[in-house]
Amino acid sequence: KTGIVTLDPGYKNTGSCESAITFLDGEKGILRYRGYSIEELAEHASFLEVAFLLIFGELPNKEQLDKFHKDIKAESHVDEDMKKILDSFPKSAHPMGVLSSLTSALIAFNPMSVNVSSEKDMYHAIIRILAKFPVLVAWTLRKKKGFPLDYGDNSLGYVENIHKMMFKKPNEDYKTNKIVIEALDKLLILHADHEQNCSTSTVRIVGSSHAGLFASLSAGISALWGPLHGGANQAVLEMLEAIEADGGDTKKYMAKAKDKDDPFRLMGFGHRVYKNFDPRAKIIKKAADEVLGDLGIEDPILEIAKGLEKEALEDQYFVERKLYPNVDFYSGIIYRALGIPTDMFTVMFALGRLPGWIAQWREMRLNNEPIGRPRQIYVGAKKRAFVPVEKR
Ligand code: SDX
Repeated sequence: KTGIVTLDPGYKNTGSCESAITFLDGEKGILRYRGYSIEELAEHASFLEVAFLLIFGELPNKEQLDKFHKDIKAESHVDEDMKKILDSFPKSAHPMGVLSSLTSALIAFNPMSVNVSSEKDMYHAIIRILAKFPVLVAWTLRKKKGFPLDYGDNSLGYVENIHKMMFKKPNEDYKTNKIVIEALDKLLILHADHEQNCSTSTVRIVGSSHAGLFASLSAGISALWGPLHGGANQAVLEMLEAIEADGGDTKKYMAKAKDKDDPFRLMGFGHRVYKNFDPRAKIIKKAADEVLGDLGIEDPILEIAKGLEKEALEDQYFVERKLYPNVDFYSGIIYRALGIPTDMFTVMFALGRLPGWIAQWREMRLNNEPIGRPRQIYVGAKKRAFVPVEKR
């Protein structure tokens, strides 16, 4: 009942795994990708460099990075027939459901992504999804806005091109905004991997049946959608907007969060592993101040968030339970400043997490891990004889 399962040593525990990708220390609030601290990577690296690092284990030199980007650009077209699938969704469809379906549908146009066993085939499938997934993200947003789909511009940087595909207005030239691109790049880095969280474990366990990379990613997107996981960034903004509509009455929401009879939780707070500050939340909070300042945006929601954080960090209920702001608490404020609609926030989380999911799937396959098969403690009925319906 404690949730801690000790399995018969003879049974391979496939509930967890050995991994060399991401290290995190929940007590000390430490996060490293392949040994590099998240603080240094967020400050000095690009998202494409971090993707290469997570997937292949080393920071790329200039030549490797250029080839990686060149290979991705060569695969950035998405089959025209995919538009028919996109068009079959109502405008009201949640973008995470659209994205998970489109990622699965991509398999039909890239059958080579299913049975990948050699590193060469894996590399090809990985390049294709790194190239095409951002197009699907952009198409999902443009469909919501009623904008014609955009095919990107391979003369731009990887993240800049994603921004262009998402935001270029019809009949207007695309204008890059350095502050916006740098903020987006940093946010994507901060979301890139987080060891065996719910959606990554989903990708690993689906991939362990050799279901293929794109199918495993589609399952991971669905797992990330939940409001207790990646869906929290959307729920945080909705919570902060509700508090703002309530005249900024944070005390009322703090009381709700502590009331065991109330299902409400303070979204963006708490973590399965971090029992200290989520290092990503610290970086994002600082970035929120910088980006809104640089863009000249006064967002009362940011002040409400800071007030809520201050109150929670001084509140016994939260202190006792070691509940701190997590990655989702401030990220939505920046997304909003970048013009991203609230129901697209978790899609942005998936875009950031893509390299991490890929890296974890590749590691699991290269390690020839057995098919995932978690065990249980049976607490059901004891053996009993069948009773015919007329006698029940
Ligand atoms: C992500 O795993 C990852 O790494 C995930 C992630 C990643 O990068 O992949 O970091 C991304 O998913 C971050 C988490 C985003 N989710 C939210 O912000 C939703 C709000 N947070 C909670 O629902 C909760 O904190 C969880 C889901 C994150 C963790 O849930 P747990 O493990 O059940 O929380 P816990 O065991 O630490 O709870 C201990 C106590 C409980 O109260 P008691 O039974 O002891 O009285 O703290 C309470 C909980 O009820 N609690 C909260 C709370 N979180 C926990 N009470 C109010 N508000 C909260 N947010």
